[in-house]
Amino acid sequence: MTNVDELLARMSPAEKAGQLTQYFYFRLPAGAEAEPALGLDVAEQPRAVEAALGRGEAGSLLFVTDPAEINRLQRLALAGNPHGIPLLFGFDVIHGLRTIFPVPIAMAASWDPEIIERGQAVAAREARAVGIHWAFAPMVDIARDPRWGRIVEGAGEDPYLGAVVAAAQVRGFQQHIIAGPKHFGGYGAALGGRDYDEVNLSDHELWNVYFPPFRAAIEAGAGNVMTAYMDLNGIPATASHWLFTEVLRDAWGFDGFVVSDANAVRNLVVHGFARDLTEAGERALTAGVDMEMAIADPAYARLPESQAAPEVIDARVRKVLEAKVRLGLFDDPYVDEERARAVLADPAHREAAREAARRSAVLLRNERDLLPLDAGSLSSIAVLGPLADSKRDTLGPWVFDFDLDETVTVLDGIRASFEGRVDYAPGIPVGQRTFPSMFDMFGGNAPADPPGFDAEAEFARAIATAAAADVAVVVVGEWQNMIGEAASRSSLELPGRQLELLQAVVATGTPTVALVMNGRPLDLRWAAANVPAILDIWYPGTQGGAAVADLLFGEVSPSGKLPFTWPRTVGQIPMISSHTISHEPDNQARRYWDEESTPLFPFGHGLSYGKFGYGELTVDRPVVGREGTVSVSVEVTNDADRAAAEVVQLYLHQRHGTASRPVRELKGFRRVVVPARSTLVVEFPIGPEHRRYWNAAVRDWVLDAAVFDVTVGGSTASFEVGPPMSEG
Ligand code: BGC
Repeated sequence: MTNVDELLARMSPAEKAGQLTQYFYFRLPAGAEAEPALGLDVAEQPRAVEAALGRGEAGSLLFVTDPAEINRLQRLALAGNPHGIPLLFGFDVIHGLRTIFPVPIAMAASWDPEIIERGQAVAAREARAVGIHWAFAPMVDIARDPRWGRIVEGAGEDPYLGAVVAAAQVRGFQQHIIAGPKHFGGYGAALGGRDYDEVNLSDHELWNVYFPPFRAAIEAGAGNVMTAYMDLNGIPATASHWLFTEVLRDAWGFDGFVVSDANAVRNLVVHGFARDLTEAGERALTAGVDMEMAIADPAYARLPESQAAPEVIDARVRKVLEAKVRLGLFDDPYVDEERARAVLADPAHREAAREAARRSAVLLRNERDLLPLDAGSLSSIAVLGPLADSKRDTLGPWVFDFDLDETVTVLDGIRASFEGRVDYAPGIPVGQRTFPSMFDMFGGNAPADPPGFDAEAEFARAIATAAAADVAVVVVGEWQNMIGEAASRSSLELPGRQLELLQAVVATGTPTVALVMNGRPLDLRWAAANVPAILDIWYPGTQGGAAVADLLFGEVSPSGKLPFTWPRTVGQIPMISSHTISHEPDNQARRYWDEESTPLFPFGHGLSYGKFGYGELTVDRPVVGREGTVSVSVEVTNDADRAAAEVVQLYLHQRHGTASRPVRELKGFRRVVVPARSTLVVEFPIGPEHRRYWNAAVRDWVLDAAVFDVTVGGSTASFEVGPPMSEG
């Protein structure tokens, strides 16, 4: 059994600093150039890291996914480390490693903790098999500004949904590896939606909105937490003693280790906070950041000369060593490469990804029940738009180790399920991706403009293809790396000529289905008024096209619900469901002169092939004590001739109290499959944990004695209002 105290007693200051350092280990594809802003010398980087391994001065590496390479580097580390301390390998396992699941915002749209947990357990199983011990995930940052590209990585706007999704992901990951919820805290509220820009959030918003998913992730057992890049209320988050010591450890009892975001410790100098790298390291360490993630030249290498107290350094090293012990790395540091291949090829993983894509799609509109398509009565389908047959875009952002050959596009999926004629025309060039991305260096966003693409002729061909078909399926959305990190937008319009393409297809008179491939709400005002069926398929992953075909042809019903409020236009941002009011709801002042005050689609919205009705809502007791729990139940009826899943949502509204409370707050949900022509009873508890909130006046959590309205429905737009419940 490894004795951490003995190790600490034997280690030199430089070795301790090394354990607190995590290096990027980059091997870029041949010919690729590193993003200049990273300050990375591609040739020098691996040499410098291997030299640190040889000196026993590196605790962890990231960005290596090949099991043979992981074993090689582990051997180097163990040969260089006089105490036999193995390396920890971390990586961005965001929505799958080899088997790519729908992007995280899509998984959240399933409102289904079971499939979310299963998905991350699959990702973790693949990761562990290749030798990765730790995922920099889940991203549990609340996102209320869709200009911010990282909205795709989280669970959307709501703290309750965010907390349930965070916990489910952590449970999934931690079956095999360490989960690292990120980026603590408030990172999603960047000014103007510009990534890394400063964040100014009141304590009321932090405690009530931005912190709950982190707390839930920690309660679910997350072994790591990552810092955030930006300034939070004037202090760089990465050097915030309040965040990492007072809140995370002291208030929540977090017992794992904290890692900085990439280069965030070095950047304390750029913030104008630390005077030099030595002070940067000392201040981050003292704040509570155990490990520095560094692209090159780590600040923590200077810890031995810094003012950092030796006992604080020891406490941080202890956390890192404990994580290695818990993972069993001292006993078994290597991976079995053959087994890794078998795990990566497991067909059960593909099946889980397909199921996840089915459950995450959101049916936004379905006039005259155009969907599901009746395959038997159709002889031809036109599949249009460049995203319909783009494997990379189908996978979405934050993928590195995918297998393009086995990625099923929408076109592939439709071809495999439909026996009639399928005609494909992109209409506009796939290569309309002039958007430079920092992920270009991994080959992820390579311009793919086919040489000699004749824009006008291709556009006309797509329209003619639509005109000649019984149904047109147009895939619209954003290209893979227009969304994600450092991918903010000032507009939510469909890029390129996609709207024009959609309009021209609808004008042919052929019934049209729009499939939206996205990770944030886009400006679909025209489509919402003119395209009869709109299905949000997100970036659906490896099995995406197969799942989309299952949904289009009615093999399964869509059951996803929006995890964010979908604004009409960028000018309405931010727009959320759980807002407060100061005037009667019909007061005109909340309106814009030039736009409605309502969203295009509300939070929780999502249609079904089932026909759901909600019966009377009952509350088991009209009055409860402060710490009491009531039980709410509602009948959900499906009048359709087919079974379908519905996400039943419960919202609370507190009528009066010691603070103004939101018009509604999500406080429960259940995904249930309701058989054809039947009724189920769904029950929810409402306990003190659902009524408690952080009150800015008393600077603490409170439970008011108050009257509450309870509403249950399939969306925030369709409530059944029940009798009030009071606490007193
Ligand atoms: C991102 C993190 C990510 C890290 C390592 C950073 O730029 O903000 O979310 O885990 O890079 O790739």
